[in-house]
Parts: sequence; structure tokens; C-alpha cells
Amino acid sequence: MTATPELRIGIVGYGTMGRAHSYGYRVAPNVAPLPMRPIVKLLSGRDEAAVAAAAASYGAEAWTTNWRDLVERDDIDVVDICTPPGTHAEIAEAAAGAGKAVLSEKPLGTSYAQAHAAWAAVSGAGVRNAIGFNYRRLPAVALMRRMIADGVVGDVRLWRGTWLSDEFTDPATPFDWRFDRAMGGTTIADLGSHMIDMALWMVGPVAEVSAQSETFIRARPSPTGDRRVTIDDASSALLRFEGGARGTIEMARLAVRRPCDFTIEVNGAKGTLVFDYPRLNELLYGDAGDDPGLYGMRRIRAEHPGHPYAELGWPIGQGIGYGETFVNQAVDLVRAWPSGAWTPSFADGLAVQAVCDAMELSAAQRRWVGIPEITETVSRRRP
Ligand SMILES: NC(=O)c1ccc[n+]([C@@H]2O[C@H](COP(=O)([O-])OP(=O)(O)OC[C@H]3O[C@@H](n4cnc5c(N)ncnc54)[C@H](O)[C@@H]3O)[C@@H](O)[C@H]2O)c1
Repeated sequence: MTATPELRIGIVGYGTMGRAHSYGYRVAPNVAPLPMRPIVKLLSGRDEAAVAAAAASYGAEAWTTNWRDLVERDDIDVVDICTPPGTHAEIAEAAAGAGKAVLSEKPLGTSYAQAHAAWAAVSGAGVRNAIGFNYRRLPAVALMRRMIADGVVGDVRLWRGTWLSDEFTDPATPFDWRFDRAMGGTTIADLGSHMIDMALWMVGPVAEVSAQSETFIRARPSPTGDRRVTIDDASSALLRFEGGARGTIEMARLAVRRPCDFTIEVNGAKGTLVFDYPRLNELLYGDAGDDPGLYGMRRIRAEHPGHPYAELGWPIGQGIGYGETFVNQAVDLVRAWPSGAWTPSFADGLAVQAVCDAMELSAAQRRWVGIPEITETVSRRRP
């Protein structure tokens, strides 16, 4: 019997996402027959004791404190970037230069210029690339997108997204990279990038935005004294899509008792679809053609064998959770190796970043900002 070939992965960063991605690779062969077996060959991190402990716990074969070693090693096929946003572009550029495929966590960078550099590097090197918009791989979200594409709700008129978290509500929460614009990007890019990706994926390109932002808690404690917070902790925007649909988006890390709740809703000419993260195995569907006596919404269980990702899940009725998004991501990427399409790609991440930057500029200047204002700045600067 011939052994299944290995897809050799190096993960940069051992925090929450290093753990989640490792979990995805370990479980993927358990849920689906795969042409290759993904294995985490190497895990990198700056703290020797912590990265060694994480490697043991996540099942990585080895660890290093220098991510450049990981990028350059001949026995790594995929560089998987799970570090803060301010590091993504530099690591992606080095990985592309070494001819490695790259999976980057979102957002692609902390600015459109940075994201563009990452995209240009992978495109120029011709290496496979993907960005970790994992919520696309929730069965109910994938089903929502499929129903919109199939015309079930008719022409989309309105799109609405909110993402509410309470991670920044306590003023005693110490300063870390998430409060630092240069390393963490903004709340717009952190929470918003997932929602913007889903909006672009479901409805199409955004033409222009009008946004507002606020930083309510302006300093955070650190061992060296209070440090100034350089990001927004709540933002919102009006969106105008190129196809004519209108939208609203809100992201906040100061919403008390909202742990990580996101909701997306689409209102089309013939119907409504609503996804609400706390009920992630379900989709609400309102059909204008229904008998008026049944006025209301149907609760679709996104677990039927005909639904996206059902073949990777448990028997109908058992449901799935957050962890499965990383399992499904690993399955999709391994199945498409070496020549199938990897989606979403860095190009998708770049399109999302343009909307994030447009929101930031709009909020700063208190005016509508068209997406070309962002994209053309970088194109003009290119040689
Ligand atoms: N897709 C999702 O559901 C999801 C969820 C959380 C975070 N993320 C994204 O994943 C990335 C990592 O987030 P996380 O929650 O795993 O972070 P984390 O703080 O838990 O882990 C960060 C890792 O990066 C390392 N690191 C390297 N350079 C660093 C630096 N300059 N400052 C701080 N840490 C540094 C840390 O040592 C650690 O191993 C971010 O881009 C974040 O936006 C995605």
C-alpha cells in the first residue's frame, strides 16, 4: 500500500489562530478522504518555552524561534501566517520569494499599501495564496451565498452586517498589539474584514462608503505606564454597492455582554435571508411568495445532505461549531492542491482592505469616499 503524500505546513505564530489552524489540519483527514495528509512540520514563535509547549500541544513536529528559518526550509510547502496583521505582508513577501504557497490570516495588512505589497509578491512569484476568511466555510453562510447566487431572494436591495464584541469594554484590559494601529490594524479591519468579505462575496463590489469611528477608551495600562490607543474601538458605515444595492455595517468591541455576535442580513426583491452567529447552524428565510397566512420566516437547518459542507459534518441535527471552519478550510485547501483554485485569495483580501481603508479615510475626513480613491493611490505609486 502506498502512503498518502504529505502536504508540509509551517505555521508562523502559536496564539489563538496557530492553535485553530493546527486543529484544522489534524482533524481534516478524519472528516474526508484527502489526496494528501496535511502535517504541521514546523511552528514558529518568539518565545522559546511558549512555542515549544504549543508545538507539543498542537502536534507540530518541530518548532523554531525564527520565522525566516521556517520560510526558507526545503521541507515546507505552505507557509501559514497566524501572527498580528502588521507582520502579514513581510512574511508573505518572504514566503513568496522562497516559492512557498501562502495562507494568511486576515486582514491582509494594516493598510491597502501593505496588502497590495503582499498581493503583488504572491502574484509576481506565481505562488498559491489564500486568506483566512473562515466564516465563508460555515455551512449556513455558504448556503446563504448560494441562495443569493441562485436568485432565491431576487435582486439584492439591502445588505446589513453587525459584529459586536465586548473584548475592549474593561478599561483595565492591558495594552497589547490589538490596540496598536501599526501592528493590529483597526477594528474596522479586524472584525470588519470578515463582514466586508461576506458582503463582497454575496453582493459584489462596493463603490463608496460613508463611515464614522470612535475610540472611547483612549489609553490602556502597560508595564511602562498608560499607552495611547491608536485604533477605533467602534465604527460603522453606509455602503453603496456597484450593482445598486445599499448596505450598512457596524463593528464594535465595546458592546457589553456581546461576546462575538455577528449578524448578516440580505433583503432582496423576493425575499430575506438572515444569519445570526449564535445560531450558526441555521438560516432564516422569508419568502414573499409564501401563503400570507404563514407570514413569517422559515428556520432552515443548514445541515441537510444537499447543503454546503454537509459531507464534512456530523449526521443531520448534530450541528457544528467555530472549529469546523478551520477543518473545512484545511479540507478545501488540501483538496485543491496542487492545481485547483484556492479561494478566497489574496486578491479577495486586497479588495476587502480597500473597503477598510475607504472607511478609515471617510471617518477621518467626514465624507463619502469612493473605493478608487484608495486603489488608485497605490497604482499611481507603482513603477
Ligand atoms: N479568522 C478568525 O476567526 C480569527 C480570529 C482571531 C484572530 N484572527 C487573526 O489572526 C491573527 C493572529 O491573531 P491571534 O488571535 O492568533 O493572536 P495571538 O495574540 O493569540 O497570537 C499572535 C501570535 O503571533 C506572535 N507574534 C509575532 N509577532 C508579534 C508581535 N509583533 N506582537 C505580538 N505577537 C506577535 C505571537 O507570539 C503569537 O504567537 C490576526 O491577524 C487576527 O486578526 C483571526
